[in-house]
Amino acid sequence: MNIRVMRVEDMMGMQACNLQNLPENYTMRYYMYHAMTWPSISYVAEDHKGRIVGYILAKMCGCDNSTFTRDEELSEPGKEPHGHVTSISVLRSYRRLGLAKKLMLQSQEAMANIYRATYVSLHVRKSNRAALGLYRDTLGFTVKDIEKGYYADGEDAYSMRLSLK
Ligand code: ACO
Repeated sequence: MNIRVMRVEDMMGMQACNLQNLPENYTMRYYMYHAMTWPSISYVAEDHKGRIVGYILAKMCGCDNSTFTRDEELSEPGKEPHGHVTSISVLRSYRRLGLAKKLMLQSQEAMANIYRATYVSLHVRKSNRAALGLYRDTLGFTVKDIEKGYYADGEDAYSMRLSLK
């Protein structure tokens, strides 16, 4: 299995993986937005035939992105520059091989080295045992807040953070 930076031609494979794994789905334009704005913090895992079996889609917040985008989330005045994991998933038959951990670590390293991110944030469903195991137990994230009814079906989210300092 190979982990490498996301390329524009990976977007279909990433979207297919996302549709199989999560109810939170995105338009092709949103994948493109990530790839074009922060080209070095989103990664894919591919099998020996080059098929996408996992991905991490990430963005930066609290930076001066005004030249590139009007995304309101990004223009949080006074906030430290930080990375945000929009989405991560691994196809079912490739799980528990350490791929998500590697995808997270690669992205975190790029966020810190390239964009000087001081921390990384994400949202996760309170019921998502596997992802919570990854974030809290393996990577050391902590729960910053509980966001009531964050998801479209009304489930609460843990807002989690990991310092990159
Ligand atoms: N139960 C408990 N802990 C788990 C589980 C599980 N099913 N899966 C992973 N973990 C934890 C373990 O601590 C594991 O370490 P270990 O194997 O040494 O015990 C650690 O995470 C690392 O596991 P990986 O093998 O790197 O994780 P994997 O590649 O299987 O992917 C993921 C984990 C991404 C959560 C996968 O289960 C998945 O794709 N789930 C569906 C999509 C999803 O929930 N994505 C996250 C949504 S939140 C967001 O996108 C910001």
